[in-house]
Amino acid sequence: MAKKKKTDSALGHDPFADMDMECLDWESQEGAQIAPGVLPAARELPMPQATFHFPADFKWGIATAAHQVEGDNTNNDWWAWEQQEGHIKDGHKSGRACNWWKKAEDDFDRAAELGLNALRLSVEWSRVEPRSGEFDDSALKRYGEMLQALRGRNIEPMVTLHHFTNPHWLTERGGWENPETIALFARFVRRVVQVLGEHCDLWCTINEPNVYGYMGYLEGIFPPGQSDFQAAMRVIRHLLAGHAAAYREIHALQPQARVGLAHNMRIFDPANPRSVLDRRVARSVDKTYNQAILTALARGRWTLPLGFGLAWKLRRTLDWIGLNYYTRDLVAFDHRQQQTLFSDRLHAGEAELLDGDYGEFYPQGMFRCLQRLARLGLPIYVTENGIPDDDDDQRPRYLLTHLHQIWHAIQLCYPVMGYYHWTLVDNFEWAEGWTLRFGLIALGPRGGRKPRGSIKLYADLIQANAISPQIIDTYAPELWPELLPG
Ligand code: BGC
Repeated sequence: MAKKKKTDSALGHDPFADMDMECLDWESQEGAQIAPGVLPAARELPMPQATFHFPADFKWGIATAAHQVEGDNTNNDWWAWEQQEGHIKDGHKSGRACNWWKKAEDDFDRAAELGLNALRLSVEWSRVEPRSGEFDDSALKRYGEMLQALRGRNIEPMVTLHHFTNPHWLTERGGWENPETIALFARFVRRVVQVLGEHCDLWCTINEPNVYGYMGYLEGIFPPGQSDFQAAMRVIRHLLAGHAAAYREIHALQPQARVGLAHNMRIFDPANPRSVLDRRVARSVDKTYNQAILTALARGRWTLPLGFGLAWKLRRTLDWIGLNYYTRDLVAFDHRQQQTLFSDRLHAGEAELLDGDYGEFYPQGMFRCLQRLARLGLPIYVTENGIPDDDDDQRPRYLLTHLHQIWHAIQLCYPVMGYYHWTLVDNFEWAEGWTLRFGLIALGPRGGRKPRGSIKLYADLIQANAISPQIIDTYAPELWPELLPG
């Protein structure tokens, strides 16, 4: 297919005209496959201006995390982990990352140009409290500047207080395996909110307790690299207790604060729906990974295998719930896999796969997760959703189909308040290093930025506050039959 540089936009303007577009090859829109007879006929009819509208106050955001973008976060467990051979794909290191510690504002300008009204970032515990009980005011000042810079651009910050990394001193005391960490986290949160509370009232206590527990303590892919199911469950319980303690600290200082937690949900479907064992094992993986955390938070009750008995301190500690949704797995029974509750993970034969073995392209999962979360009766933010896609050949469809599922959920009055795309600029992808490219903007080897085609799509969606036929037509006409049948 011929490649051309694409500068037009569905809204007839080019918000990225000034950005460095050199070397970018854009897939020809004309060359894209259109279902025969569908689009040309529709084009002859008068087109509705905007079909799938989002609520007027919908939050359009992007999400990031400190260690993935700031650079030189030398004082935490991830930095140490990266230095040891074999931990990160291709021996990559976070290094200077996206240089946000020094120059986040340059990317905030890009975020403002894109039209965002929301941005989720995290504060790095090891910068704010480099030694136990000693707080670094200059680090807090820098975060204050960042939050003010966002507000000055009419972008509402959401601040995550724990996103996977821990200061060295905490790791030495056993990290989240040690129940004392709960109080230490609450102390850190208190200080952060005392200083940054004037610029922020939307807080995300902890990012993905399940991913943190599974990757670090079961699969051994994240520090501390353990493989112990009971330890993973213990760590998740402590993280949830840390969340509850943080919730109370924040509300004591800032009664009007809106405090939530980002929960990673995956869809687990039985590989063979007719197999009782596959169905049973899919249900039990779902219960352990997705549901047990929700039950603990919503009902104040531990359920096996996460725990047993009352968790009453967790009750009423959510003002909203965050959904991080990316993909689904098919689950098959495998008697040899005791560590993973006798499950094996597969992909559907016909599934479109994401780059880097990241999983299936499965937009319906977004709706299915939102449907479940809606039962909690809380406002929902989609705090993460995105795709590793260096050449940007799947992202436009991914973005449109996942947002369409969110739109559908909103039509059923599920209270989805906003969407934070993961992410703005390619960032350090933990154990995958720099091999997975999630950015709407590509990061060059020397830190240069080059927008991918999808950034214009996102800008058009935000400006229209809708998925319009023109947007579908411009960016993914092959979706026409699926999104606008008939
Ligand atoms: C994490 C992010 C990560 C993203 C993409 C999420 O589970 O919160 O830190 O970059 O997935 O892999």
